[in-house]
Amino acid sequence: MKAHLIKCSYSDPDRSALKEAGRALREGKIVVFPTETVYGVGANALDQNACEEIFRIKNRPQDNPLIVHVSSYEMAESVCTLDPGIRKGLSHFWPGPLTIIAPSGAAICKAARAGLPTVGVRFPSAPVARMLIEEAGVPIAAPSANISTRPSITDPAHALEEFSGKVDFVIASGKSPLGIESTVIDLTSKGIRLLRAGSTPVEDLEKVFGDIEVTEAARGVATEERPLSPGTKYLHYSPMTPLYLVAEEQMKSMGHDPRFSEYVFICSSQAGQGITNRKIVLGSDSDLSAVASRLFSALRELDSMGARGGFIHMFPEHGIGLAIGNRIRKASRPLTGEILATLVRS
Ligand code: TXA
Ligand code: MG
Repeated sequence: MKAHLIKCSYSDPDRSALKEAGRALREGKIVVFPTETVYGVGANALDQNACEEIFRIKNRPQDNPLIVHVSSYEMAESVCTLDPGIRKGLSHFWPGPLTIIAPSGAAICKAARAGLPTVGVRFPSAPVARMLIEEAGVPIAAPSANISTRPSITDPAHALEEFSGKVDFVIASGKSPLGIESTVIDLTSKGIRLLRAGSTPVEDLEKVFGDIEVTEAARGVATEERPLSPGTKYLHYSPMTPLYLVAEEQMKSMGHDPRFSEYVFICSSQAGQGITNRKIVLGSDSDLSAVASRLFSALRELDSMGARGGFIHMFPEHGIGLAIGNRIRKASRPLTGEILATLVRS
């Protein structure tokens, strides 16, 4: 099977171009589509077989639930139970890159929820995604469009590479504007908990909802405690090329060391100034939105460079930087003295 490719405007999509893909979704087919965060791989959230197919295609662990995407508040309320106070607060963030975990409505199939009594719900802002869901007329379960453990996809060329032979349609609308997935918050416990840092900054959420509990797991720091969100316990976002996390100062000195000429340095424009070895510049550390939008494509670019390994450093962890830090920690491993010694010897 080779997917039908639909090229479509992100902000002003042609409805007739999305009709067939919408119908296909409703009837149980699988469609890769753009959102404001990353590309998603979608199926009818009411259709158990279609949702099971997503797990097969992505090679996704069965116990990691999918996010259900809706195109209106009415649809959101058919999918989950929304407390009126929360609904009011949500109007500051929806449509947009925020996913809530709430008690699930009965119609959502078991596979989409991974058997949980709760469901992740998101009302995306991308006009193309909203129109596709409207055309489908059903809520769409869609995890990020990447094979499990691989970096998420923000570039339609990567979506085609990874999914063309596996799904029915790929809708291509250019690069994802935000580049990092939605923020996931849990509304089912006392107080609101951050389950995954994402494109909606916690600082903005706290202005509306009050204090939000940010766990180490949400920051991407490995912990022994039981994971709150199933997705936090798995290996994530990894390039195939070994990627090491180093301090920015250390990177500056390694960056012009000929012993690392076969490595790629993924860095800020500031750190990049002193680096003469190969590098991928993500952007200024004072423009974290630009860094966020480049991060996942940089991890995939690294894999196309034939390098022995890559180095990356942390960025300031405020605003969207919390999510950037989470993805960087998960995609890399710390460069210990021991590892450094083997890299230099080999
Ligand atoms: O921006 C996004 O959210 C993208 C686009 C496509 O919308 N989607 C996305 O989906 O990132 P995915 O599957 O890669 O991440 C979903 C996360 C996982 O960490 C999963 O464990 C969590 O949401 N999640 C979903 N339903 C949940 C539930 N009922 N309880 C706890 N966590 C849940
Ligand atoms: Mg994902």
